[in-house]
Amino acid sequence: MELGLEALDPDSIERSLLVEVEHVPVVSSLAEEWGNVWGFKARPDDLLICTYPKAGTTWMQEIVDMVQHGGDPQTCARAPTHERMPFIDMIPPKPIPSGVDQAVGMPSPRTLKTHLPVQLIPPSFWEQKCKIIYVARNAKDNAVSYFHFHHSGKLLPEPGTWDQFLHNFIAGKVAWGSWFDHVRGWWEAKDRHPILYLFYEGLKETPAREIQKVAQFLGVTLPEPLVNQIVQHTTFESMKENPMTNYSTVPSFILDQSVSHFMRKGTVGDWKDHFTVAQSEWLDEVCARKLGGSGLTFRTQI
Ligand code: A3P
Repeated sequence: MELGLEALDPDSIERSLLVEVEHVPVVSSLAEEWGNVWGFKARPDDLLICTYPKAGTTWMQEIVDMVQHGGDPQTCARAPTHERMPFIDMIPPKPIPSGVDQAVGMPSPRTLKTHLPVQLIPPSFWEQKCKIIYVARNAKDNAVSYFHFHHSGKLLPEPGTWDQFLHNFIAGKVAWGSWFDHVRGWWEAKDRHPILYLFYEGLKETPAREIQKVAQFLGVTLPEPLVNQIVQHTTFESMKENPMTNYSTVPSFILDQSVSHFMRKGTVGDWKDHFTVAQSEWLDEVCARKLGGSGLTFRTQI
């Protein structure tokens, strides 16, 4: 579906307020349309790609599209990421169709994107036993990436200073809520549902192995040359150059990439250039407390 972003009035674009849905802060447009998102009708052959914002969603979307289409880059270039895979909890300014509207008009099999925490996933996904791929990224790099994205993403609240943003991030007072609850909630859900739980750091370290896990989960057999082709097509460098994956088709009054590129750094460990020692120790302590006993651990360098 062509989204017709050019129909938007730049003067109508405003940074959003955060409003809670079931105690989770979300942008106000999502809270207003929550009924439609919660009532979303999943189909049994839907695949859901789920992440906390900035954990590597777009990367996984491109990997999945390549796996689903025999590693054919031409097919994957049919449209920008956000048109190929509707983002069901995205309520853009009118007259742009919501992610739900986009998905409703799409033939099966659909691949969908969400940033919702596990308890807010529309129940039809569980009822239909849909497959879900979750990607988690360590809190430090995730926070840094989200901070930069707040500068370019004009629909998000103002981020404030790095220190203010980090306080809000740790307190869960950012859009889509607490990183800790998100990664832990989905981690625990994977034992009850068909969920493949992957890590950004693993993808970065051994992409071929992680791509094979995706293929196996989707029931696709990938010969080694094809895996290597997918690895090459989905490197940070090639996705940064690819207009179908780098969000360059989104107008700058919504996503101002002169402030910060969507494909910004794509590394593990960029947090070291942002965190003070005290901030790093604080986040380590909160991580240990909030993730304790779950068996979930993260690497902040590889
Ligand atoms: P940085 O801001 O740290 O560079 P999402 O798609 O969930 O919004 O995540 C965006 C983050 O993933 C950005 O992180 C972006 O650069 C990174 N990313 C996107 N594609 C990538 C790739 N192919 N390899 C590594 N990182 C990638």
